[in-house]
Amino acid sequence: MDHFLYRDGALYAEDVPVAEIAAAVGTPFYLYSTATLLRHFHLFDDALKGMDHLVCYAMKAASNQAILKTLAQAGAGMDVVSQGEYLRAKAAGVPGDKIVFSGVGKTQDEIRIALSGGIRQFNVESEPEMDVINAVAVELGLVAPITVRVNPDVDAKTHAKIATGKSENKFGIPIARARDVYARAASLPGLKVIGIDVHIGSQLTELEPFELAYSKVAELTEQLRADGHDIHRLDLGGGLGIPYTRSNDTPPLPVEYGAMVQRTLGHLGCEIEIEPGRLIAGNAGIMVSKVIYVKSGEDRDFLIIDGAMNDLIRPAMYEAYHDIVPVVEPQAGQEQRPYDIVGPVCESGDTFARHRDMPSLESGDLVAFRSAGAYGAVMSSEYNSRPLIPEVLVNGDQFAVIRRRPDFDEMINRDTIPKWL
Ligand code: LLP
Repeated sequence: MDHFLYRDGALYAEDVPVAEIAAAVGTPFYLYSTATLLRHFHLFDDALKGMDHLVCYAMKAASNQAILKTLAQAGAGMDVVSQGEYLRAKAAGVPGDKIVFSGVGKTQDEIRIALSGGIRQFNVESEPEMDVINAVAVELGLVAPITVRVNPDVDAKTHAKIATGKSENKFGIPIARARDVYARAASLPGLKVIGIDVHIGSQLTELEPFELAYSKVAELTEQLRADGHDIHRLDLGGGLGIPYTRSNDTPPLPVEYGAMVQRTLGHLGCEIEIEPGRLIAGNAGIMVSKVIYVKSGEDRDFLIIDGAMNDLIRPAMYEAYHDIVPVVEPQAGQEQRPYDIVGPVCESGDTFARHRDMPSLESGDLVAFRSAGAYGAVMSSEYNSRPLIPEVLVNGDQFAVIRRRPDFDEMINRDTIPKWL
């Protein structure tokens, strides 16, 4: 459920007509709904309410500080994967003890910044990284709380580019090696082992792979406790999928996920941490774009819009499906025709949809890409020297630009010309 609905023949974001925002900020732009962000956060928070828990939003999904602040004020922690994300979370007012640091390639500098600024825990992904965290902690006279991310070798049954829990993936430490690695961790003076971390992939549409992975984590918890480690926190990663179409895909709900977590791990009495990104932000955002031209091709019509692959890369990168809807509500029974919906970038890959049935559209009409809140704005680029598009946040009947459109000079003046030219 989200708060982008038709009302009086027009698409609204909460209580604001999308067309009104488009007129104020120009197209294309990203538009987020506060009520939807909060609703999704609370679905998870409530789903885990029988257990001591913290929902750490995976801010890689959408990292604008206004979004982070909205979620942090509701009680969310953050999962970060870079110095930039750590600093952004801090700038949005998230305290260090609610920030978890994940990722396979944390540098010494990143570790130093996070340790000195305050951190809930590092999720350690390799032995060399563990040594570096230890060394930095010893140098700073601090002790770094850590979990080790284990790779459970489970098939997440998702797109290959976003599966992370098989032995061939770069993530985590093979679960079979975990006991040795924990033994080493316990011997290092700069580290304090507090738990276990696992994340098997993104856009999972079944519970079974999670349950398989979490059962392995449950078993490992008992083994590690028997080995003398104080395992009291389980970070279960993110990954729960969202419906990208409104008809036929119905991934499990957070409440079902929560019940499964309780069933597989509840008996251990651990604090549960989860890192959802897509489920919180995905359906809380749309990308609004305008038709530039309708072009009749030899065997099809092209809808050429002002948004492009540099603004929303998911269709080009993962063959992802996004619902694309007109901002003026189609009439019941209105005739539809198939369009290829494309952007202006000079690549055939700049295609959002092929043979997509839409009501007849004209130059100047607005369309909205649904489910674009997660991995949309954050993955955008300036390819073809197209400036990053603005982000706007709606809250009830108000809206605010939360990242403005840069002007062309800003983009161009970032280049510097060496003195020999
Ligand atoms: N935790 C870790 C360690 C992760 O690597 C990720 C996502 C998450 C949590 C959040 O997963 P989520 O709940 O959002 O599924 N750009 C891709 C998705 C990449 C996901 C990367 N890691 C896409 O557009 O589909």
